[in-house]
Amino acid sequence: MPEADDNEAKNFFVDVPQQAEAFQLKGSQSLDWGMKNRLARIFNPVSGRTVMLAFDHGYFQGPTTGLERIDITILPLAPYADTLMLTRGILRSIVPPSSQKAVVLRVTGGASILKELSNEEIAVDIEDAIRLNVCAMAVQVFIGGEYEKQSIGNMTRMIDLGTRYGIPTLAVTAVGKDMKRDARYFRLATRLCAELGAHYLKTYYVPEGFETVTAACPVPIVIAGGKKIAELDALTMAYRAIQEGAAGVDMGRNIFQAEAPLAMIQAVRAVVHQNEKPEKALELYRSLKNKQK
Ligand code: 5RP
Repeated sequence: MPEADDNEAKNFFVDVPQQAEAFQLKGSQSLDWGMKNRLARIFNPVSGRTVMLAFDHGYFQGPTTGLERIDITILPLAPYADTLMLTRGILRSIVPPSSQKAVVLRVTGGASILKELSNEEIAVDIEDAIRLNVCAMAVQVFIGGEYEKQSIGNMTRMIDLGTRYGIPTLAVTAVGKDMKRDARYFRLATRLCAELGAHYLKTYYVPEGFETVTAACPVPIVIAGGKKIAELDALTMAYRAIQEGAAGVDMGRNIFQAEAPLAMIQAVRAVVHQNEKPEKALELYRSLKNKQK
């Protein structure tokens, strides 16, 4: 028999409509709770942006400079990242399971730098992604590449599987051999992946017309850092990308190959989350670097 419950009417706040917080991330309003919750662990709900620390390069090029000993060089950077982007091999062997960081797991692979890079397959079972409690799965897509169709198929398959379990898919647009890295190419690549259901995109920054890439893409775009360049140039690139509509960075070499990686990731954070200007962020980099000496 139910317990007699004499709550006063005032406890029900009958005149107060139930609160419904809007989910602000671009293009994500209609997603389910689990998807949104995972995306909110990647994209800081206050700034709407993310600093993803990318160190998955070994999956096709082996121990890249700066990634020879991930336990020593990368783990100390993790507290300053919003998200770790990596492979399951490194996650299981090196990242402590007590880590609270959102994980974006590389789920395609199968080609090395010695062969045709676009010849990738799905390399992780969805069940393993669930087991590893990841916040998103990253799939390489080679628009214009030799195995374009196969890589798009990898992406749509993971989107379907991820949707079943509430795990978002990040489409990583790799540059095809004969395609120019310009806004026109990235508009095509990002829009195509978004139309096919990718929840967010990784692309490269281009100095001309990047704002048209972000405008035409209905979901968030983060930029890869690319090859190591001078610290000021990397901070300027990140700043411009953010001001032109990017929702963050997925940066690897320009952080872990910097002279002072701990200082660099904090400078990148300031640009991404606080709109810090590149010159100011460089000052921050230099002062943190001096303190670490
Ligand atoms: C490797 C990747 C990297 O995660 C991506 O390129 C970001 O790293 P970087 O800033 O060094 O370019 O996708 O395949």
